[in-house]
Amino acid sequence: MTDTDSTPPAPSRRALIGWGGAGLALGAAAAGGAAAMTRTGNDVDPAGAAAGGAIAFHGARQAGIATPVQDRLHFAAFDVTTTDRAELVELLKDWTRAARQLTAGRAVGEGAYGGLAEAPPDDTGEALGLKPSRLTLTIGFGPSLFGRFGLAGQRPEALVDLPKFAGDNLDANRSGGDLCVQACADDPQVAVHAIRNLARIGMGKAVIRWSQLGFGKTSSTTPDAQTPRNLMGFKDGTRNIAGTETDRLEKFVWVGEKDGPAWMTGGSYLVARRIRMHIETWDRTSLQEQEDIFGRDKGEGAPVGKAKERDEPFLKAMKPDAHVRLAHPDSNHGATLLRRGYSFTDGTDGLGRLDAGLFFLAYQRDVREGFIPVQRNLATDALNEYIQHVGSAVFAIPPGVRDADDWWGRTLFAKEA
Ligand code: HEM
Repeated sequence: MTDTDSTPPAPSRRALIGWGGAGLALGAAAAGGAAAMTRTGNDVDPAGAAAGGAIAFHGARQAGIATPVQDRLHFAAFDVTTTDRAELVELLKDWTRAARQLTAGRAVGEGAYGGLAEAPPDDTGEALGLKPSRLTLTIGFGPSLFGRFGLAGQRPEALVDLPKFAGDNLDANRSGGDLCVQACADDPQVAVHAIRNLARIGMGKAVIRWSQLGFGKTSSTTPDAQTPRNLMGFKDGTRNIAGTETDRLEKFVWVGEKDGPAWMTGGSYLVARRIRMHIETWDRTSLQEQEDIFGRDKGEGAPVGKAKERDEPFLKAMKPDAHVRLAHPDSNHGATLLRRGYSFTDGTDGLGRLDAGLFFLAYQRDVREGFIPVQRNLATDALNEYIQHVGSAVFAIPPGVRDADDWWGRTLFAKEA
């Protein structure tokens, strides 16, 4: 739909500029506009339930973790190019302002047109006329950031550099990063527009190091909805942590007050892994073997020996090298992750094979008690014959932006260098 279409089915991004998002985001009007919406606790925002709506940006925790998983992803890792702490802080404030507008379905700054004819517009324009599409923007700080800007003493102990795991074949150009922004939305153009505009604002201070587009969520935080399937055709995310499981989120995902450092309270840690799938080999594998590899059947998604997807897995009934058996908390001293990954297909690899796979995203309270032990245990996973980890990054995810005066990273930069 263009900006001049006369019969919009729902308020457009452009319209939102004028209407303040009235009627789109629940409670927004009363609070003075969509950007003022605030999430509380771990809640799943009802406004997000309506496709195309806006997810509140403000809250004690960042959106994009426990909030319902959208269909599309644009993930970007940035290298900070400025060496000036004040400039970095300025960038984070500018990004926060823009993120507030973008997640409310608005154009950045003064918009994409109508301003000075002699200057480039503030917004690049490709999301005009599109709905907010449940866009969430989640920021993270990589280990490399803490060696600079006087932040060494602030590095969380839990933000460890990931060790090398069996089978890793990591590409440095698809790994690491000082900052990350995870953009999730139901419309790919909305997610891409958000990352593009943040990158544009960052010009001269930060530059994209690598990025990943994702389609088709491979995990959900809403167990009542149909479980999505990954590119291997299996239901994925069945035993994920749900956005409504407050206790499990507190226990396994959110950094608590006693965990330290104080600036991370209410935050989390993210591990991102680009996992290539050898799709062509997988597609020549028998159904029985495919099911043995996961320890679940392909149709229903039920664990071995059980009838229903949600039946409790009986691990001993599975092959010793079955993925679910090895990844299950009972095999990992209780280690539990909130998975939020996406499928990707980035063309072909030059040898006639699809460059496709799973962009694995997992949130946890402590990487040393989450991803690391589980991934170590997966060293003997039967799935390894069909996958290869080719990119890797880890980020500290700070708490949410509480209100209009707050900004991404305030708690980290509160202490003078
Ligand atoms: C391309 C790679 C992968 C594929 C295709 C894949 C697929 C699956 C599938 C189909 C399930 C069963 C349904 C479910 O409960 O979600 C599952 C479960 C699980 N996977 Fe993966 N997975 C992959 C990589 C990983 C990695 C790297 C980790 C963590 C290091 C991981 C951790 C888990 C966990 C924790 C479960 C739930 C186990 C349970 O509680 O029963 N997976 N995965």
